[in-house]
Amino acid sequence: MKILPSFFIFSFLLLLLLLLLLLPPSASQTSYYVPVDNIAVDCGTEANTDTGDRKWVGDVNTKFSPSEPPNTVNKSTVKSIISNTINEALYKTARLSRSPFTYSFPVTPGPKFIRLYFLPENYDEFHRFDAFFTVQAAHFTLLKNFSAALVADSSNKSVIPKEYCVHVVGEAPKLKITFIPSPNSYAFINGIEVVSMPENLYYSPAEQGMTTPIIGNNIALELYHRKNLGGDDIFPSQDSGMYRTWDGSNFHVTTKRAFKIHNYSISINYTTTTPNFTATDSVYQSAIILGTNRTLNSKQNLSLQLPVDVGFNYLVRLHFCQIHTNELGKQRIFTVFINRRNITVVDIDSVNTPSYEDYNVPMAAGNESFILVDLHPLPSESFDVILNGYEVFKQSNGTNLAVPNPVVALAPEDKPVAKNSNATVIIAAVCSSVGFAILFSIVGFVVIWKQSKKKTKRRKKKKKTREDKLLPERRCRIFTFEEICEATDYFSKEREIGVGGFGAVYKGIFEDEDDLTVAIKRLNPESNQGEQEFVTEIELLSELRHFNLVSLIGYCLENKEMLLVYEFMPNGTFKDHLYDTSNSLLPWRKRLEICVGAARGLDYLHTGFDRPIIHRDVKTTNILLDENWVARVSDFGMSKLGQTNTAVSTAVKGTWGYLDPEYHRRLKVTEKSDVFSFGVILFEVLCGRKPLDPLAGEEKFKLTLWAKKCLEKGNVYEIIDPNLKGKISCDCLKQYLELATTCINDHSKNRPRMKEVEEKLRFILKLQEEADGDCSDTDLSYPEEPFSPIRSSRSSLRTESYKSHIATMLSGSDFTASSLMSEEMFSEHSSGSVAYSRKT
Ligand SMILES: *[C@@H]1O[C@H](CO)[C@@H](O)[C@H](O)[C@H]1NC(C)=O
Ligand SMILES: *[C@@H]1O[C@H](CO)[C@@H](O)[C@H](O)[C@H]1NC(C)=O
Ligand SMILES: *[C@@H]1O[C@H](CO)[C@@H](O)[C@H](O)[C@H]1NC(C)=O
Ligand SMILES: *[C@@H]1O[C@H](CO)[C@@H](O)[C@H](O)[C@H]1NC(C)=O
Ligand SMILES: *[C@@H]1O[C@H](CO)[C@@H](O)[C@H](O)[C@H]1NC(C)=O
Ligand SMILES: *[C@@H]1O[C@H](CO)[C@@H](O)[C@H](O)[C@H]1NC(C)=O
Ligand SMILES: *[C@@H]1O[C@H](CO)[C@@H](O)[C@H](O)[C@H]1NC(C)=O
Ligand SMILES: *[C@@H]1O[C@H](CO)[C@@H](O)[C@H](O)[C@H]1NC(C)=O
Ligand SMILES: *[C@@H]1O[C@H](CO)[C@@H](O)[C@H](O)[C@H]1NC(C)=O
Ligand SMILES: *[C@@H]1O[C@H](CO)[C@@H](O)[C@H](O)[C@H]1NC(C)=O
Ligand SMILES: *[C@@H]1O[C@H](CO)[C@@H](O)[C@H](O)[C@H]1NC(C)=O
Repeated sequence: MKILPSFFIFSFLLLLLLLLLLLPPSASQTSYYVPVDNIAVDCGTEANTDTGDRKWVGDVNTKFSPSEPPNTVNKSTVKSIISNTINEALYKTARLSRSPFTYSFPVTPGPKFIRLYFLPENYDEFHRFDAFFTVQAAHFTLLKNFSAALVADSSNKSVIPKEYCVHVVGEAPKLKITFIPSPNSYAFINGIEVVSMPENLYYSPAEQGMTTPIIGNNIALELYHRKNLGGDDIFPSQDSGMYRTWDGSNFHVTTKRAFKIHNYSISINYTTTTPNFTATDSVYQSAIILGTNRTLNSKQNLSLQLPVDVGFNYLVRLHFCQIHTNELGKQRIFTVFINRRNITVVDIDSVNTPSYEDYNVPMAAGNESFILVDLHPLPSESFDVILNGYEVFKQSNGTNLAVPNPVVALAPEDKPVAKNSNATVIIAAVCSSVGFAILFSIVGFVVIWKQSKKKTKRRKKKKKTREDKLLPERRCRIFTFEEICEATDYFSKEREIGVGGFGAVYKGIFEDEDDLTVAIKRLNPESNQGEQEFVTEIELLSELRHFNLVSLIGYCLENKEMLLVYEFMPNGTFKDHLYDTSNSLLPWRKRLEICVGAARGLDYLHTGFDRPIIHRDVKTTNILLDENWVARVSDFGMSKLGQTNTAVSTAVKGTWGYLDPEYHRRLKVTEKSDVFSFGVILFEVLCGRKPLDPLAGEEKFKLTLWAKKCLEKGNVYEIIDPNLKGKISCDCLKQYLELATTCINDHSKNRPRMKEVEEKLRFILKLQEEADGDCSDTDLSYPEEPFSPIRSSRSSLRTESYKSHIATMLSGSDFTASSLMSEEMFSEHSSGSVAYSRKT
C-alpha cells in the first residue's frame, strides 16, 4: 500500500526531469528580448486576469497591494463595472481613492516601461468628471491634476492607455508609483505595467554619435505615437518582448498619393546598430512609399503631421527597411525635413537590413502643436522614399511630463447630436447608471412634480441649460413638454420627418441652444403596447452607446405624453438612398461601407452586453445615416432582452419581408433572426428594390425567393440593380452573394453570427477597393463573368483568407478613417508585376 504513492511520486519526478531536459530554455527561442522585470497588475481585483495578450495579477491582498499613509481617513476602495462598454477584462475593475496611495514595485536598476491604463467611467459614487489626480513615478511627475474623462472626450477615446520610460537607479531599488487626488477629487487606476527594456533601446549609452539625441538617465519619456506603417496593428503579445503596441493606422500621413507595401516572407537581417529587439519583424516587413513614378515623385514629399503638446523636446524615431528584391527594392535616398528644416539625408540601400534614425525635436511653447516630417526623394535608382514605422516620445522638462487637461470646448457646431465618435461609447455616464433611476423617480414623483412645476420651471430650465453646457452630451436629459413643443413648432406638419411603428417622428430645433437639431419621436398616446416599448427603449438606449447606433439624448414624460429625443441624422434612412427616391443613389462601395457599419452596430447589440439584445426589426428604414454617411442603427423599441440559448417567444413583431422563416415555424426569435433580416438588406442593397414588391409579378414578388432562384440557376446578373451594373468586381460580387445567401439560410444554425458578417463585409469591401484601385466610380466597368450556381452553405465563411485581410481594420475605431485615407494600389502599373502583393 505504501509503495504505490511513492512510486507515483518517483515517476512524476522522473517525468518532470525529462521534460526539463527536453524543453529548450523557455522563451529564448521565440523572443528577441526577455524583460527581467515583467510586472502586470490588474487594479481593483483579487483575481488573476488573462486578457489573451497578457496575464495580470490582482492588487487586492497580493504582494502588489498599494500602501496608504498612516491615519488615512478615506482608504482606497475597489469597484467593478461589469457592464461597461469596454469588453476587456483589465477595465472591468478599478482602484479608487480620495486619499493618496502608492504602489511599490521591486525592480532591477535600468530603464523601464511604465504603462498606466485608465477607463474614465462612473464607478458608483465616483463620477467620471470628478476624478482629478497627480501621478508620480520615481521622482518624475507623469500626470498632474489629470482628468482621464476630459482627455478621453477630447480625443474621442474610451480608454486612456499611457506609456512612459523611466530609468531606475540604485541598488535593489523600489519603483514607487503614487496617485494623489486633487482637492475634492479622487484618483483611480485600472491597470499598471512595469517592464524592463534593453539598456540602449531608447536611452543612450555615453559614446553614442553626435547626431542622435542623448536621452540621459535623468530624462523620462512619454509615448505619443508608435506606428507600424503599411501593415497591421501589432498587439502587445506580438512585440519583441516588451509588450509594446504598434498602431497600424496611418492617418498622420498627409500625402495623398502614398502606397502601402509589404513582404511578409522576407527575413529581417538585424545588425548591431539595429538589434532584433528594436521592433518586431512585421514593423520592418511593411512600409509606405511614394511609388515608382519618378517624375511624380521628384515633385512630392511623404509627409507626416504628428500631433504633440508644445513646451517639450521630443524624440522622433523613424524606422526604415527595404523589403523587396524587385524594382521596389532599389536604393532610396531622401532628405528628412523636420518642421521644414533640412535635417539629414538618409540612404536606404541594402534589402532586408533595418535601420532607424532618431531626432531631437524641440517644440517651444507658442509654436504649432504638430511635428511635421517630410521625406523628399533625391535622385537615386528609384527616386522614392520609404518609411516602415515611427515612434514619438515626449521628453521630460526637468522632472515634469505633465500637461494641462484639454479644454473640451463647446463650439457652436459641436452640438451633441452631431458627435459620432467613439467617445459616445462611454457617454451616458449619468444615463447608464442613473438614467433609469431618474426615470423611475420621475414616474413616481410625477404628481408632486406637476404641482410644483409651474413655480420652478423657469429656474429649473435655466439651471439645466447651464449644466448641459458644462457637460455636453453626457446626460440623459429630461425635457419639458413645453420645450419640446417649442422645438417642434407645436408638432407642425412641416417638422414631421417620418412615421414609425408607434408614432410620428419630428425634427426639433432648440433655438436657444445654438439651434441644436434633434429627432423627436412622439409616442402614440393611445397605444398601451407603445408605452411598454417606450420604457424598454429608454432602458436600453440609456445603456447603449456605440459609433453605429443612434444615441438617445433625452426624453420627456409629461401629461401622458411620451417623447424620445434622439440625435438627428441629416442623411435620413439607408432606404432613401437605394430606390424609390429622388435622392441620388449610393455607389456600391458606399453601400458596402454602410452595411459594414450597420453590421457592427448590430454585433454590438448582440455581444456588447452580458445578455444579447435582439433588435427584432432590422430593415433599411431603421438604418440611418449621419452627416458623414456613417450607418447608425436605430429604433430599439422592438428589442427584448434575450438570453443565450433560450430564445424569447412573444407576439409577432418586425416587418414583413424581413422576418425570419424559422420564427414562423418555431415562434422563436434569436440573434440569428436579426442576421436573417440583415441578409434581406444585403439583397435589397444589391438589387435596389424592396423586399416585397407586389408590382413585380408573382415570380419576383419576394426578393429573397427570387434571388435564391436566380442564384441557383447561375443567373446572377439578372438581379443586380441596373445602377450597379459594371461597378462590382467579380471577386467582390461572388463573396457578397455567398454571404447574403448564408444569412438568409432557412435554418438559423447555418447562418453566420453578426460578427462574422461584419468581418466578411470588411473583406468584401477590401476586395472591391483593391479591384477599383484609384479609378473613380465613373470609369469603372467590370465584365460579367459566368457564375457557378450558389447555394447557401456555411463552410465558405470559414476561410482564412479574409481573416488576415481584416486584421488591420479590426481594431475598430478608424475604419471610416481608413476608407478616406490614401490607400492607392498601384493600379497604374497594369502589368501587376510590382509591389502590391496580396496577402490572401
Ligand atoms: C536576437 O539577438 C540576440 C543577440 O544578437 C540572439 O541571441 C537572439 O537569439 C536573437 N533572437 C532571435 C529570435 O533571433
Ligand atoms: C473623505 O471623503 C469625503 C467625501 O467622501 C470628503 O468630504 C472628505 O473631505 C474626505 N476626507 C479626507 C481627509 O480626504
Ligand atoms: C484641475 O483641472 C481642472 C480642469 O482642468 C481645473 O478646473 C482645476 O482648477 C484644476 N485643479 C488644480 C488643483 O489645478
Ligand atoms: C472626434 O470626433 C469628431 C466628430 O467626428 C471630430 O470632429 C473630431 O475631430 C474628433 N476628434 C479627434 C481628436 O479625433
Ligand atoms: C546580413 O548582414 C550581414 C552584414 O551585416 C551580411 O554579411 C549577411 O550576408 C546578411 N545576411 C542576409 C541573409 O542577408
Ligand atoms: C507619372 O505621372 C505623370 C503625371 O501624372 C504621368 O504623366 C506619367 O505618365 C506617369 N508615368 C508613368 C511611367 O506612369
Ligand atoms: C521647460 O520648462 C521651462 C520652465 O517652465 C520653460 O521655460 C521651457 O520652455 C520648457 N520647455 C523646454 C523644451 O525646455
Ligand atoms: C519577398 O521576400 C522574399 C525573401 O527575401 C523574396 O524572395 C521575394 O522576392 C520578395 N518579394 C518581392 C515581391 O520582392
Ligand atoms: C517655433 O518658433 C520659433 C520662434 O518663435 C521659430 O523660429 C520656429 O521656426 C518655430 N517652429 C515652427 C515649427 O513653427
Ligand atoms: C517638401 O517638404 C519641404 C519641407 O517641409 C518643403 O520645403 C518642400 O516644399 C516640400 N516639397 C513638396 C514638393 O511639397
Ligand atoms: C538637404 O541638405 C543636404 C546637405 O546638407 C543636401 O545634400 C540635400 O540636397 C538637401 N536636401 C534638399 C531637398 O534640399
